[in-house]
Amino acid sequence: MRSVPSRSLTLSSPAKLNLFLDCLFKRPDGYHELETLFERISLADTLRLTELCSDEIVIASKSPDIPLDKENLAYQAAHLIKQSQGVKKGVKIEIEKNIPVGAGLGGGSSNAASVLCGMNKLFDLRLSRKTLISYANRLGSDVAFFVLNKRFAVGRGRGGELTPVSVPEKAKIWHCLFFPPIKVLTRDVYGLLDKEEKGAKKGKILRLTKNGHDVNILIPLLRRNDIFSLNQNIYNRLSENVMKSYSLVSELKTALLKSGLRSVHMSGSGPTLFSVFKTRREAQRALDKSQHRLSDRCSFFLASTR
Ligand code: C5P
Repeated sequence: MRSVPSRSLTLSSPAKLNLFLDCLFKRPDGYHELETLFERISLADTLRLTELCSDEIVIASKSPDIPLDKENLAYQAAHLIKQSQGVKKGVKIEIEKNIPVGAGLGGGSSNAASVLCGMNKLFDLRLSRKTLISYANRLGSDVAFFVLNKRFAVGRGRGGELTPVSVPEKAKIWHCLFFPPIKVLTRDVYGLLDKEEKGAKKGKILRLTKNGHDVNILIPLLRRNDIFSLNQNIYNRLSENVMKSYSLVSELKTALLKSGLRSVHMSGSGPTLFSVFKTRREAQRALDKSQHRLSDRCSFFLASTR
């Protein structure tokens, strides 16, 4: 008997940066109402999905940093598709990790989005983008952005109510990324906001945001590729709390600024720090300089809008 080769699919699973992240208030569901600007970047993992005849979900990876069981968001994505669509076959998900784990770069969320979109193709399910986004929002706050498949988008609600932002292809940002070897849990960082809120007067609706920050300011700057002004308006409400509570991150930021970078920002709930540049050359030069001085303090990556 001739065996039928199993069908498989290779996918690139990109990271994101938050160029803007504001927390407006604590929602009744315990999450924070966000206003964020996502940018998809070139740093990416590679996923290979292979159809299995047995009813199994198998995760394989050489990375010591990710779980290979139900804990992995990619596993949960596969389980959700199988359960909701009645898929009897299984899937093997091989993950080649390049995006640092627990970095604020959305690696796990992106892998989950790749699994949703990949299984849709592999099993010919013909699910609409809208349905895939609703599944994404059941898995986590950043997953929908990767399913949307746009370079930039504004996220509201928990982060998954998305409005794509159209920016000319040639308007591309270059970045240095700095990932310090420290564990920062997203829920702990949001917990720091709650502590602040508790300190505020009872009965008063607290707008967590500080005045003067507006996601709408950034959009025309992106479209004009005005990197100088963009740099001045990038904002992350979580950054100050992370700097206060994790000295390794604030010390790294100070050291990076001392090494000559004009400004350094934080992505998501951290701890990854990043800078923005107009050209690859400028970004590479800044990376080389900081890497030379701070090689033992963090991992370094060069990336651009993708
Ligand atoms: O949705 P996700 O699993 O990525 O969120 C991780 C944690 O971050 C949540 O458990 C919650 O504590 C916090 N979070 C929040 N508000 C958001 C997104 C995340 O409080 N909008």
